[in-house]
Amino acid sequence: MLRLAAGILLTPVLWAAGRDTVLFDTDSGLFGDDGAALVMLVRSPSQVTIPGITIVPGNVWPTQGAEYMMHILDLLKHSQIPVYTGAQAPLLHTAAMAHESERRWGKLEFMGAFAEEAKPSERRSHREGAVQFLISEIERHPGELTILAIGPMTNIALALRLKPEIETRIKRIVFMGGNVGVPGNASASAEFNFWFDPEAARIVMRSRIPKKVMFALDICNTAPIRKAEFDQVAAVHTPITDLFREDLGNRYPGFLHNPAATGYMWDSLAAAYLLDPGFVTKSEIRYLDVLTAWGRFYGSTVPLDRRTAPDATPVEVMRTLDFKRVFAIYKDKLTRQD
Ligand code: RIB
Ligand code: CA
Repeated sequence: MLRLAAGILLTPVLWAAGRDTVLFDTDSGLFGDDGAALVMLVRSPSQVTIPGITIVPGNVWPTQGAEYMMHILDLLKHSQIPVYTGAQAPLLHTAAMAHESERRWGKLEFMGAFAEEAKPSERRSHREGAVQFLISEIERHPGELTILAIGPMTNIALALRLKPEIETRIKRIVFMGGNVGVPGNASASAEFNFWFDPEAARIVMRSRIPKKVMFALDICNTAPIRKAEFDQVAAVHTPITDLFREDLGNRYPGFLHNPAATGYMWDSLAAAYLLDPGFVTKSEIRYLDVLTAWGRFYGSTVPLDRRTAPDATPVEVMRTLDFKRVFAIYKDKLTRQD
């Protein structure tokens, strides 16, 4: 009897200990794939806990990004999760460079925040200090934290430069970014997150973070969201699916105007990995780097010359997946009524 009572008392403690603590670093969007990733994790409290969200420039500038994320948290009734802004711009890349690259080497498919002016916030309830927050959380929980990086890596690179010793205290980084053997989606040769801040991505690829799990375009291209998948989520009516319908239906990729459009799960694949890594059916270990010489290949993913970074840890590159299995998680989490 006593043993049974002790078992019952211990259960919540063990259950909490099994949860992954995830630092959620995002370049946001009205909803898109960053919003889907957030919904999936917030709606998985038995598996994941999120101590805070850090916003990085990418799809939009950070003040706007913070507002988007706080709105989704409000809809999820989880407004208590703090949202921090940090870097206000990439380490080196600028809008002027992006425009000049278009003039020299042809139109970019997507330039994110570089296409817009940074606007002042209407509602400044987010906090500042994302980089310090990342550092202090990692220092408080050495070896325990997962970073989910689903935007450019500016905040993370700054944290690694301010406190290099945190590199080996991070449990792992799971990220969406880069393109190993396929064309880019920002420029012809580079994926957007790496392209927007190539120097930051390079710092992370060359770091000693013990485990690096990469969802590059190669695997993301095999997880498209088409009108048929969009309809399955949009058919359900909740505040979250209404936002999903508005964003994916009327903005990007615009299924309500163009039923032949295609979007991708992108960041939501990286988030799903934290809930069910078994949907990945093949991966491989590589040492990778990012090209930072400004030119038409700026931001593309290349093999690492290990003599230049002998301490760099390898990257586990996710290769193939079970789409039915991962889409079932996406759909289930997005369409919940809570
Ligand atoms: O290349 C896809 C990435 O760029 C995703 O993180 C998406 O949200 C955009 O930022
Ligand atoms: Ca993103």
